[in-house]
Amino acid sequence: MARNMSQAIFSLLLIFLLRLLSVARAQTCTVGDHADSTRFGTEFVFGLPVSGQYSSYLGDYGNFIQTSNSGGTYYYASRPARSESGQFSTSGMPSHAKIEYTAESSVTRDTGLHDGTLRVLPDYNLIVYLFGSNTNEGTYGATAVTPLVYLGQEYFASVLAGPGLGQVVISSTGETTFIRLTPNGPFTYDGITYSSPFSDLEVEIPAWYQMIITTSSNDFTGSRILANKTVSVLSGSSCAYSPEISSGSCDYAIEHLLPYDKWGTTFNVPPFQDGSTGYYIQITAGRDDTTINVDGTLVSIGQGQTESREVTTNTMLRITSDKPIQVVQILKGAASMVVIPPEEQYTLMNSYFRISGADTLGIYLNHYFTIVVPCSSQSGIYVTGTAPGDNVYLKTASSSTAKGSMCAYFYTGGQTFTYTISQSDPNGAFTVLNYARDGTAAAGDGSAGYAYVGAQKFQTQRCLDYHTIIYGSDVTTQATTTQATTTKATTTQQQLPK
Ligand SMILES: *[C@@H]1O[C@H](CO)[C@@H](O)[C@H](O)[C@H]1NC(C)=O
Repeated sequence: MARNMSQAIFSLLLIFLLRLLSVARAQTCTVGDHADSTRFGTEFVFGLPVSGQYSSYLGDYGNFIQTSNSGGTYYYASRPARSESGQFSTSGMPSHAKIEYTAESSVTRDTGLHDGTLRVLPDYNLIVYLFGSNTNEGTYGATAVTPLVYLGQEYFASVLAGPGLGQVVISSTGETTFIRLTPNGPFTYDGITYSSPFSDLEVEIPAWYQMIITTSSNDFTGSRILANKTVSVLSGSSCAYSPEISSGSCDYAIEHLLPYDKWGTTFNVPPFQDGSTGYYIQITAGRDDTTINVDGTLVSIGQGQTESREVTTNTMLRITSDKPIQVVQILKGAASMVVIPPEEQYTLMNSYFRISGADTLGIYLNHYFTIVVPCSSQSGIYVTGTAPGDNVYLKTASSSTAKGSMCAYFYTGGQTFTYTISQSDPNGAFTVLNYARDGTAAAGDGSAGYAYVGAQKFQTQRCLDYHTIIYGSDVTTQATTTQATTTKATTTQQQLPK
């Protein structure tokens, strides 16, 4: 009896300690954390999208990698679920290293769970870009990979279906991870196609596995992904047309998504200054009753709903909202997508980005970048480009455009140059978008292009109690949790917005 009693007390204590531990872990989230974050990180985790090109050649995925350590760094690239690992090295910037991951037919056209999640671990630090390329079809796309430490537990998909499949790849990070997908549109997972009426799909992803979903409908954009531990989500398509195109080569349009806790409410979307006219945007609401102001026009949408628009002139859009939103910009012609950083993630940190190394794959592009900054703080911005031979050139913008007090400055980029941007004005936080296309850049021309964020920070904007959001509240958790910022989303999450 006594023994049973002490065992019972011991188990209770254990449960209590475990709860304390999980509460302590939840409380490590602090609003304002990571104010000094950049794209350099010491751990990167990501899956590879499905290869959807219309080609017997499946194409390749790979990384371009740089380090800020002048002495360079060693790094490991591994597929932990397969116990595959390799050690590589790169010298300091402006050098880069390239690793390629050969697509496998058994992997790249299947949905379901797959053991291909990649993990990159440097001794020092790295910036990691992920590219997809099909040299048979001359197509190329890229995204800048967000360091693991800035990823999160809630995402909203953004896909570009047609003519190929839209796709979402969710990677677990070293532990079995529970996923709840709240779909907004038809999708295929593990060979099963789900269509309306939709209900939540719950899946366990084994440690270091990836969950691959495909869709033939852009309605899937806005589908909500909740995870009980940090996950990495790639979204887009490896064979996309931008909406005005209906034939020709399809292109990679891949983005590493930003978790909901890093979203913001104020956006400046600059036009592309590459000879094309206009662009598309997808605006997704993270919560119900979100009112969005797009250049003076008000729209109200619910959680997971998406407002899509074509902008037909080369003007900068100003978008604000009363609750956090995700804004994705789509390049016309050679389709590419980029998740636009909100002003809340504009940075004052010295920023570095490298113009994509697509030329090393035999794909020659015209490269550009745009700096968005308060017009009154432009004089504090200093831009240099470093050629592979270490020659440093001061860069000035070729033109600019304004919307209210915000300005976008347009630059042309040199193939394989590394750019450094600094800002001496403490009120002049900025962001940078990198993009490229082949051909003469008239809308609809060119089969290859990319767009990704060159500079932003990953500051925590809000802390959420995902344990309660996912599993519901229980008495003990409520009694011990002191976090003030739990979400109200639990009341609406079963409700499908469409
Ligand atoms: C997440 O869920 C999985 C599967 O249900 C479980 O094994 C794991 O312990 C959970 N992790 C956390 C941090 O709650």
